[in-house]
Amino acid sequence: MTVLPSSSLQAAAPWLRADWRPDSGQVLAVRGGRPLEGVYPISGAKNAILPLMISALLTPHLVTLRNVPASLDVAVLSALLRRLGTEMHWSTTASGLSVTLSADRLQPGSIDGELVSRMRASVLLLGALLARCGEARLPMPGGDAIGLRGIDFHLAGLRAMGAEIELASGLIEARAPQGLKGAEILLPLPSVGATENLMLAAVAASGTTVIRNAAREPEIVDLAHCLGAMGAKIVGAGSHVLTIEGGAALTGAVHDVVPDRIELGTLACVAAVTDGEILLRHGRAAHLGAALSAFQAAGVDLCEEADGLRARRSADGLTGIDVVTQPYPGFATDLQAPTMALLTLAKGASAITETLFEQRFLHVGELRRMGADIAVHGRTARVRGVAGLHGATVACTDVRAAAALVIAGLAADGETVLTGLDHLDRGYDRIVDKLAACGADIVRR
Ligand code: UD1
Repeated sequence: MTVLPSSSLQAAAPWLRADWRPDSGQVLAVRGGRPLEGVYPISGAKNAILPLMISALLTPHLVTLRNVPASLDVAVLSALLRRLGTEMHWSTTASGLSVTLSADRLQPGSIDGELVSRMRASVLLLGALLARCGEARLPMPGGDAIGLRGIDFHLAGLRAMGAEIELASGLIEARAPQGLKGAEILLPLPSVGATENLMLAAVAASGTTVIRNAAREPEIVDLAHCLGAMGAKIVGAGSHVLTIEGGAALTGAVHDVVPDRIELGTLACVAAVTDGEILLRHGRAAHLGAALSAFQAAGVDLCEEADGLRARRSADGLTGIDVVTQPYPGFATDLQAPTMALLTLAKGASAITETLFEQRFLHVGELRRMGADIAVHGRTARVRGVAGLHGATVACTDVRAAAALVIAGLAADGETVLTGLDHLDRGYDRIVDKLAACGADIVRR
């Protein structure tokens, strides 16, 4: 492993500096109309890395994570973990960014409210800190403005495991004076975050925990693999029932983060909408779930190769489709906005129904500014394909809305200027550089 001096690592990934803040003055300028060609390396998954980094809090031993995406969410979580006494060592190899975490001298103390308010996944600190330290004090988490996003399932599950939790003045105070105990938990919905939080708590609890109606996302399976490498006993990851035998002494581990299926789907849309051809290196078709057949029906050809997936527009062009977002393996809500951007240019009409997050159509107004024909009725957006989009100044409102606007900008005539780039940086590792390497006319200024 090549260990870079921290200065050159920070030049490559400025967000890894604890004090890095997005420059609110920056915008992204995209000139559309070029077919993108080449190789786009898919990074480690944004939604996997956060619970994986937090899993390192469960053990005093070293946990090394490889294929880490350099995203703003990772920077925010790193800052949070450092303040809890976790030491982190970053390095790069030919295959990407790695981090080794040591939570040998973990201090549960109170957690920075400003950082927590920027990232909903910080709620996963509850399960891990309760498990390791028997207590946790956390401001209510923030995140994207895409809906109400309660944490009641997290709290109910932890309480079932013996945690005493009080909510007052925007703070969550949790204690497990007798330690956590295994429990039977039925989730009202297969919540990704609640499943992860309860997994983190259950591996350290005494006895067996059964989580029914568990989330089945590849990121859950990835977390189970990492915890398994640390010595945890978890059966059923990827199914609706997770059985966790708690209490094993956890060791360190080395784990490769699963490739990002949402980045994969986003870039498949880019290839098709620009009428280009991109090899999405490390992409795994099976992880797209229902999006794979939806893309095929819409005219996005995805061909498996040894090294990943080759994406291009089908010879018949893009066609309107109907999409309903569902928990995995259903059509991912995180691909709803990117797919909508694609369908604005498809022949015919599409209906996109969002079932998971009630405010996840904030990109519609921005796509309309670019000439898209979209009407929203309740939870369904009706898209009528248009012959072309035109550049405009548009605002990113959440991470996937930002991706949708990049896709639309790459297809539009003229220049599109995106503001609110911190949303894009939260979830997409070096997207500007990687798109430019495929021939995009895209620049921050
Ligand atoms: C995760 C992903 C996010 C993705 C979402 C659904 C991360 C960091 N984020 O978010 O990108 O869009 O899964 O695939 O992995 N709910 C409650 N109470 C709870 C928990 C959830 O009502 O205690 C509701 C939410 O408001 C939402 C639904 O359940 O309507 C699904 O949410 P959940 O699966 O928990 O999403 P996140 O884990 O926040």
